[in-house]
Parts: sequence; C-alpha cells; structure tokens
Amino acid sequence: SAADKGQFKHFMLKEIYEQPAVTLAAFQDRIQDAMVNERAFGEQASAIFDQVKQIQIIACGTSYHAGMIAKYWMEGLAGIPCHVEVASEYRYRPVVIQAGTLFVSISQSGETADTLAALRDVKDQILASLTICNVPGSSLVRESDLFLMTNAGPEIGVASTKAFTTQLVCLLLTTVVIGRRFNMTQAKERQIVESIMLLPALIEQALAMDVDIEKMSQAFAEKHHSLFLGRGTLYPVAMEGALKLKEISYIHAEAYPAGELKHGPLALVDKDMPVVAVAPRNDMLDKLKANLQEVSARGGELFVFAGCTQKVQAGDGIHVLGMPEMPEILEPIVYTIPLQLLSYHVAVLKGTDVDQPRNLAKSVTVE
Ligand code: G6P
Repeated sequence: SAADKGQFKHFMLKEIYEQPAVTLAAFQDRIQDAMVNERAFGEQASAIFDQVKQIQIIACGTSYHAGMIAKYWMEGLAGIPCHVEVASEYRYRPVVIQAGTLFVSISQSGETADTLAALRDVKDQILASLTICNVPGSSLVRESDLFLMTNAGPEIGVASTKAFTTQLVCLLLTTVVIGRRFNMTQAKERQIVESIMLLPALIEQALAMDVDIEKMSQAFAEKHHSLFLGRGTLYPVAMEGALKLKEISYIHAEAYPAGELKHGPLALVDKDMPVVAVAPRNDMLDKLKANLQEVSARGGELFVFAGCTQKVQAGDGIHVLGMPEMPEILEPIVYTIPLQLLSYHVAVLKGTDVDQPRNLAKSVTVE
C-alpha cells in the first residue's frame, strides 16, 4: 500500500525510486501520436487556451522551483510571456494583472494556505485558473477552472521528491498545449513528446548513480555550509538541491546562478564549503573552472554533475559525476535525481529524521 515503506528504510527513498513509474503516469495517457492531448486539462481547456496572452505561476517551496523551470520553458520553447512568484509575496502586494492572464498554481497538496489565498484574491481579475496538483479533490483542484493531476500517488516524506518531477512533466505538457497558440511548431512538439517518452529510462539510469552519490555524501556530512550552482533551467535545480539538503540534513546550502559566483559567494568558498555544480554542457563549465581555480588553491572542493561526453577533467579538488546523455529539455528533471539522493544520504549519515524533519510540515495549511 501507499503507506508502506516496503523494502526501503524511509518513505523519501521509496518516493525517489518511484520516479520512473510516476513520471510515466504523468504523461502516458496524455500523449497520442507524438502529440499532447489538451482535453487532458479539462473540457473547457481549448477554449480557455485560445485566449491566453500570458501566464502567472504561483507556488511555494519545491513547487515554486518547478514554476521557475516552467518559466524558462514557456518563454524559451514557446514564446509565452510568463511570470513566476512565491505565493506569500504575490498575495501581500498590490499586483498588476494584464488581460488574458492564465493563473497557474502548482502544489503537491492543493491545500497550501498562501497559494490558495493568492488564487482566491485574483479570481475575478484573471482569464482563468489552472492547477498542477497531486491531490485529487483538494481545495486548489476544486477552485480552479482547469486542473492537471501529477499522478505521483501519495507523497509521505515531508521533503518533496516525486511530486516535483511529476510537476515538471505536467508543466512541459502545459508548455506544449499553450505553446501551440504561440510559436511552438508541430515539429518542435513532436520532438518534445519523443523526449518525454525517454524520461522513465533516464531516471532509472540516474538512480543507478546511488552508490557514487552515497560516497559523495561523506564529503558533506561534517560540513556546515555548501554552495549549489547552475545555469538556465539548472539554476532552479540547484535551488531545489540546496533546499533538499537544508530540509533534511540541516546543512546550510545556498544556491546561486553560476554567473553570479564571482559577485559574492566565491569569497566564502574554502575547504569547509563544498560546491556542487549542475553543468550538463560546456558553456558554463569552462567559466566555472576558471572561477574555481583559486578556490582549489584554498582547498575548495567542487562536485560537478556533467554529461558523460563532456570530458570534464577530474583533478585537484574537482570530482566529476557523469550523467547519462539526454535531450536538453529533460535535464532539469533528470539532474534533480542525484541531488535528491545526495540530501538523503547526507541526512542518513547525520542521523536526522529523514521523513519528518524538525520544524517542517508536509503541507502548510495555516500561516
Ligand atoms: C511545505 C512542504 C514542501 C512543499 C511546500 C509547498 O513547505 O514541506 O515540501 O514544497 O510546502 O507545498 P505544496 O503542497 O503547495 O506543493
């Protein structure tokens, strides 16, 4: 049953390992002949999507990181203007809502107080609302015009894992169906759908890195600080990796867009502050290595997750973790997996309560 850990020591680990199956569940009934079926979003979906001029995404926590990635997709793949903001900021400031705004909430529980309040506050000023949600019949599902369920199954671990990767699958599908009204061509759609179908197998390959990640976790367990770097869609992935580490291992983890490293955080890096970089391609790696040259001199340790064909030289203070080759569009989803495993193994080494971290709740339904 869902409330059974089975062979796993913790729900979090079980949920991490469910990701090949649940990401499949998030797309399989929604694609046909290499196209996304927009009826999956509800009866009135097509009529609503026809009128969308821009998108406002609202979410909290891990779901917010999914929203940040979606913004890169909406604007970068389809030319849809897209804003994203955490619910607790959006709801407490005067906002300007332009005509034709589709309000998209992202929530595992569908009950997060700030996200729900944000929707209720703007309901009569928006074109329509869509929620990407994991809990059927939850408040956000009931109160939104359209919904797309993430189909991840019950998530018990407080630190969100499979809800996040299935949210990303749903957000890719959303980018495609709305993108058709913008500049997403049929050829591009076909290419995206064919990529999505590779996802379960790629996640499986990423899970096979578990043993290496467990070794890597030893470099973190005794540390008090760490830095996560990424660029583009991998910047929110770095944020999510840092959030996971904070949540369950209580290690201070900060995420930065790689290009900002030299504008401050580089001053902090020494042997006591390991740096994790999610850097699938070379564009960012070369600059990063140059930046970190001085850091290795001070004993700084860099852990790079990179594509296997990248030929990143491991060396003094540089550890390379080879990721499977994959279509660029899947990188934020697949690169998330080893970061989830990293936080898990660090927490286990530290002996923290992995599934029930101190001070945190699974869903924040009151303020
Ligand atoms: C809490 C949970 C997080 C979650 C966030 C948003 O902080 O501990 O894991 O990301 O709420 O929750 P939601 O259910 O709206 O996605």
